[in-house]
Formats: sequence, C-alpha cells, structure tokens
Amino acid sequence: MKPINVGLLGIGTVGGGTFAVLKRNQEEIARRAGRGIVINIIADRDIEKARKIAGEDTLITSDANDVVTHPDVSIVVELIGGYTTAKELTLKAIENGKHVVTANKALLALHGTEIFAAAQRKGVMVAFEAAVAGGIPIIKALREGLTANRIEWIAGIINGTSNFILSEMRNKGLGFDAVLKQAQKLGYAEADPAFDIGGIDAAHKITIMAAIAFGIPMQFDKVYTEGIAKLTGEDIRYAEELGYRIKLLGITKRTPKGIELRVHPTLIPSQRLIANVEGVMNAIVVKGDAVGPTLYYGAGAGAEPTASSVVADLVDVTRMHTADPKNRVPHLAFQPDLLSDIPILPMEEVETSYYLRLRVMDKPGVLADISRILADLDISIGAMVQKEPNQGEDQVDIIILTHLTVEKNINSAIIKIEDLPAVIGRVTRIRLEELSSNH
Ligand code: HSE
Repeated sequence: MKPINVGLLGIGTVGGGTFAVLKRNQEEIARRAGRGIVINIIADRDIEKARKIAGEDTLITSDANDVVTHPDVSIVVELIGGYTTAKELTLKAIENGKHVVTANKALLALHGTEIFAAAQRKGVMVAFEAAVAGGIPIIKALREGLTANRIEWIAGIINGTSNFILSEMRNKGLGFDAVLKQAQKLGYAEADPAFDIGGIDAAHKITIMAAIAFGIPMQFDKVYTEGIAKLTGEDIRYAEELGYRIKLLGITKRTPKGIELRVHPTLIPSQRLIANVEGVMNAIVVKGDAVGPTLYYGAGAGAEPTASSVVADLVDVTRMHTADPKNRVPHLAFQPDLLSDIPILPMEEVETSYYLRLRVMDKPGVLADISRILADLDISIGAMVQKEPNQGEDQVDIIILTHLTVEKNINSAIIKIEDLPAVIGRVTRIRLEELSSNH
C-alpha cells in the first residue's frame, strides 16, 4: 500500500523531533500502522532551516495554506502553537477534509469545543496526545485504558519548568528569581515564561484532562489558577520539616457538589511517589473507582519525547482513517451528544486542607486567639508548630496545618487572623492534599 502523506505546520523543536523519529523508526512504524507514514510537505517561516532538517525530498513552503489545502495530504500536524493562526489553519485543514494531529494545548483548552464540532461534521479526527505532558501517553490512558472506570480525581505535575524551579529551590536552597533565569537559559520555559510560572500552561493541560476524564466540555475559563512566583524558600523548608513537598499541581476532582478544576502550589506528603518527581519531569496520578490510583511518569517536553506522542497519533489516525467515524474513539472519550453539564465548582466552595504561616508577637494569648478564630469557623487544626525566635527577637513564625475545610472559611479566618494586633504582616496560605488512595 502507498504511504499516507502528512503535512507539517512548523518545524521547530517538536517538528524536527517528529521528522527524526519518523525517519529513524520508519520500518517499525510501517509494520505497526500497516503502511508507511511520510511527511511530504512542510510549512515554516524559515525555509533554509526546514530544508536543512528535511532534506531534498520534501516540499517546503512558507505559506501554511499550501499544506492545509494540499490534495495529497491526508493528515496535517499542527506544531506552530498559539491560538490565532493555529486555530484558523486547524479549521481550514478540517474543512478540507484533513485529519489533524496537534500538540497545541492552549488551542484545545480554549477552542476545543468548536474544533471538535467542526471535525465531527466533516468526519475527521483531531488527535492531541502531545498536548498534555509531552511524551507520556496520558490521553490514551484516560480515554481508552481506564475506560471501565468512573474517574474520581487527577493530580499532576504537568509543567516541567515550574517543577524544575521548585526542585532547584529545595535542593540548592536558591531563590525563585535565580532559578527562573537558569531555567530560561536551559531553554525549558515557554516563549512567555509567565505561562509556566503563573500556572496557565498547567491550566490548559488540566482543562483537557478534566474534559476527557468526566465527559464535560473544555472550560479553561473556569480553572482556578495560582502560580509559584510567591513561594519562598522558607515555606519549602518548613513544609519539608513537617514531612511535605511543595509541587505545582493541576487537580481535577469529582465531588457531589460539582467538579473541582484548579492549579496551585500544593503540599503533598514527601513519601508519595509523585512528591519525588524532580526537575523537568512530569507525572500524573489518576484515581479510578475500579483500578485505584495509577501513576504516569515521563518527559513532559522536549523534541523526541513530544514527537513520540505526535507519531503515536499519526499511527492511530493511519489505522482508523478509513473506519466509519461512528466507530472511532470519540475526541473527548464520551460520545459527543452525551457530554455532561455537571458544574465546575467555584474555588470558594472547594474543600481541601491548608498550610498557614504567620508571624506573631511572642506573648501570652496569641495562639488562643488564633485557635478561637479557626474553631468558630469550624476549621480543625491538624498540627501547629511554633518556630524558635531569632536571638534577641520577640517575633516568631507559627505554622498551622488544618484538616479538610471549605476555602471560603479559610479565607474568612485569614482576614480575622490578620486583624489581630499581635499578628505581623500577611498570612501565607498554601493548599495541602494527602493524595491518599482511600478518597
Ligand atoms: N513549558 C512546558 C513545560 C512545555 O515546562 O512543561 C510543555 O508543555
């Protein structure tokens, strides 16, 4: 059988990796897919660079429209990123009857509903394994491997840059700014590092996973997002002393009141496997009602790890493109007309535990006042530690770990605690998740 033709939009890091993997493993890939998979046209602004990577046998153009309308192209791989041009080209490729493989998490988190609807109308596939956690086959696992389960929750380290920063801060005792500079020098951060450290990149990815896990539409605008820029070495150290690590987690959870969808720094017990994921690596825990907790670990970015996912999608599309669209795996794992409108919970209604750090005057009655405020709001204390004051100082740091409580109650408590005359400055609040297999 003749090979299937692929058009590539953008031959940057991931595009180059895709080209290399397809070429190096072409024989095995063809044995798996049932026919060869060949990139026959590439669009990139830098024609010289594209020519250098792809050699003489591939058509190179600077006009992306040539790719999405090319009559011989069956699958378009979109690797240009961003929402504007990428969206236009993806929709145009679909309109022209092309299947699409994309690594673009932002595009799907924001416009997935529209894109999947267009694809369904045209009977084409949009595959996006590379959009979440690079080389880890988490989309495949959620959509197919765990399909027997009612998914209960997902918690993931899904941004390598911020995990690298937190690891370096903990291991080397360095400050946030110094480590961010190092991450940028090493080329880990997104073009706009605010997406990494502000939690937006992780919010894109948790939006996609929540949609597939629960059969709900993409709702990026409802994700509560808090980044790592305000974390201090002090909090990382104090958490460590209490047996916890701080990680930037994307979390989504099914509760009787609705679905939690949030990204924020989180204390997790140091002995959990996921707490020991260091540097730029990604890891995701998925809890299913039948299987229990499962853990997926691997490279969340980089040329060939991400290409591994892109090529897996190419093989899937190659195997399935002649099948009746009704018999394919649905884009969001659930049949498109059977998506659920179960609401996303506002952050104020989310129930979790908390780490609080505050500085107080070291004098009688201060702890009693704080305990009373917490008790009045029905917040139960799990642990409380008073640090030794520095020599000659009459101020001390207090660390409080709470049991499960509703976010709006902790917010009220913090306002009241900050009002106490003996409390100096602001209260630092970091959420805490046990991630235990029991709930
Ligand atoms: N900037 C992302 C990260 C790359 O740090 O994980 C992959 O989405």
